[in-house]
Amino acid sequence: MPSSPVGRETDRVDGRLKVTGAAEYSGDYRATDLAHAHLVTSTIARGTITRIETTAARAAPGVLRVYAAPESRLNLYPITGPLAGFVENYVPLKDTEVRFHGQAIAMVVAETPEQARDAAALVTVTYDTRPPRTSLADEPHEPAGPTLSGTPSSLEVLAPGVESIDAALAASDVVVKAEFHQHIQHHVAMEPHAILAVWNGDRVTIHAGAQVPAAFALGMSQRLGVLPQNVQLNTKYVGGAFGARVILWSDTPLPAAAARELGRPVRLVLTREQMFTLTGHRPQLTQTVRLGASRDGVLNAVSHQSVSERPTTVTFPMTPAHNTTDALYRTPNLRVHAELAVLDIPGSRAMRGPNEAPGSFALETAMDELAVATGIDPVELRLRNNATVHPVSGLPWSSKHLEECYRVGARRFGWSARSATPRARIDGQWLYGTGMATGIYPAHRRPASVRVRLLDDGTAVVSTGISDFGTGGATMVAVSGADALGIPLDRVTPEIGDSLLPQGAPAVGSSATHATVPQVVNAARDVIDELKRVAVTDDGSPWHGASADDLRYERGILHGLGRSMTFGRLLRAIGSPGITATAESPGAADPEYVHHSFGAHFCEVRVNRFTGETRVTRFTTVADVGRVINAKAARSQLVGGVIFGIGHALLEENHLELDTGRLANSTLADYLVPVNADVPDIDVVMLDRPDPILTGPLGDGGEDVGTRSLGARGLGEIGTVGSAAAIGNAVYNATGIRVRDVPITLDKLIEHL
Ligand code: MOS
Repeated sequence: MPSSPVGRETDRVDGRLKVTGAAEYSGDYRATDLAHAHLVTSTIARGTITRIETTAARAAPGVLRVYAAPESRLNLYPITGPLAGFVENYVPLKDTEVRFHGQAIAMVVAETPEQARDAAALVTVTYDTRPPRTSLADEPHEPAGPTLSGTPSSLEVLAPGVESIDAALAASDVVVKAEFHQHIQHHVAMEPHAILAVWNGDRVTIHAGAQVPAAFALGMSQRLGVLPQNVQLNTKYVGGAFGARVILWSDTPLPAAAARELGRPVRLVLTREQMFTLTGHRPQLTQTVRLGASRDGVLNAVSHQSVSERPTTVTFPMTPAHNTTDALYRTPNLRVHAELAVLDIPGSRAMRGPNEAPGSFALETAMDELAVATGIDPVELRLRNNATVHPVSGLPWSSKHLEECYRVGARRFGWSARSATPRARIDGQWLYGTGMATGIYPAHRRPASVRVRLLDDGTAVVSTGISDFGTGGATMVAVSGADALGIPLDRVTPEIGDSLLPQGAPAVGSSATHATVPQVVNAARDVIDELKRVAVTDDGSPWHGASADDLRYERGILHGLGRSMTFGRLLRAIGSPGITATAESPGAADPEYVHHSFGAHFCEVRVNRFTGETRVTRFTTVADVGRVINAKAARSQLVGGVIFGIGHALLEENHLELDTGRLANSTLADYLVPVNADVPDIDVVMLDRPDPILTGPLGDGGEDVGTRSLGARGLGEIGTVGSAAAIGNAVYNATGIRVRDVPITLDKLIEHL
């Protein structure tokens, strides 16, 4: 008798294909008569192209075409409708305007990738250059507009009789004010963005990495001027995304347009350096947090202001207090306010924990400063300010076990052994310290559509057009399908990553799991009803003429009236290859509740007394993420989130040259990401507390198969929210040095050591 795989350590269904190299990523697909594209990018940030000289490139060996701005042969069009606000707002190569340093301005197509690249190097360009707007501090600021949730990015809640947040702060016993800075950071997916386009008449098949397959295909159809149903996107295997593959970029349709014009399949693979300007970044950011509290650490006033960037082509409008400062702690007086400055720099994009990771760095560092100022233990300070209702809306949470996260984490980590005094632990050259911080991430509701097919061989296919960019999404679909149907995991085939499948949840905002699983459950329930219906209506069935109410489905078998039959055998008996049901939901939120995941991070660092070299030596993270679907993939997600936190805190920044608008360290030699040597063993605990208000009834197994919604919340981002602050707080505890400007590199420590 099979038992449910839910909550176990399940290997990825595609793991073997990935580690053996058998899984084909977008750049791996082949096509007959394939041609190869290479982009030429701008070397100024703002101005107009006065001349592009392509004679030498066109004469180079193997070259088929050189497309140079302004280009009319490609027949590309603006994107309109709901997508328009999310994509780069110009048609690539259409005009001679340069909007940022590193913009695509020409494309060479040749017989081989090397020939295309070599010819691209022969293209010369002259510009009429204007000074770029590059300074966050100096350019005018404007309000950030609505948050991702559609709420205002500026809001103020004041207790009765309080005139302003400044007055509330002034009336507080203890006030902490801290300003934080971070440069541009990047997604740095392992797989460079690549696209292969193959036309067949007026239909085109695209192989590319995408987080939202249906939106990607729709955007491509609009850019190419073809009907949406004529674009098929294959995005089965995706080598990382983290926000950079949420939407298509300006260059994305170029090879498809060239393939149409040339009558040959064309592939474009970006170089690693091009990835830094053509696929987005986490916006640079300045934040000011002010906390006012009583002497015993109870918050009276919280203010969080920010200034971020608005690139002209496409912007992720950073509102870092949203779902962090406006959701985490109880306070009678709260003000959050976000502003942006228009800059001539490459487009920005959401990046893992897009508001929450940067926002929590500021808030949770300031909370550590408040702990120091009041002499209260950082865990105790957070427990004293724990919110039992959402501080702005006053609504309860669907499920919240944050206090348990603190307690479990503190115990596992050995928090009580710490000294609150900085520089208290020295071992040879190394100063040791510990720090902690809170994580919070919203459980966004998203639409999702899932199809379940029961086949006559006794297996089931669960289909939904989600993208698994390394998250384990395909395995989540299989595990939840096996649970909903009550059959073994190896009899369930997940089918994902194709825009022609039922439209899946966007793999965005840690929401694919909690959007998908309830629809797997609903589709399974409906296909079981359909199985009963055919069992009583088909004259090949032994139950022909009976009532469906006489039948009971359990663990892949139909029982009733003294008989039992597997669904495979029944389908064979009635001569049906399979039966299907599809469930879909618009993903509306329950307005009576707010939905978040929570976490607590505990970290130990050592800092070299002479060089400032900082190493994370221990890390414990405890996450409250609802029911865990696959303990193995879930742990990987949380570990990955903490590794992002290590990069955020200690390594990652791309310097913007203010005079040229060039992103100066756009290579993996100069833009540092954590490698194995930077990452200790990370201790991950998941509380495994189901959230039925978010997903629907949990059921209790057995005949409830097809009704168990599991209560899982997505967990892609909760590991990264707060982890950078925990590291910075540990650096303070080790050294007595508070660095509010990430990454915390040794130059910022060494002069104070
Ligand atoms: Mo993500 S930053 O929600 O793709």
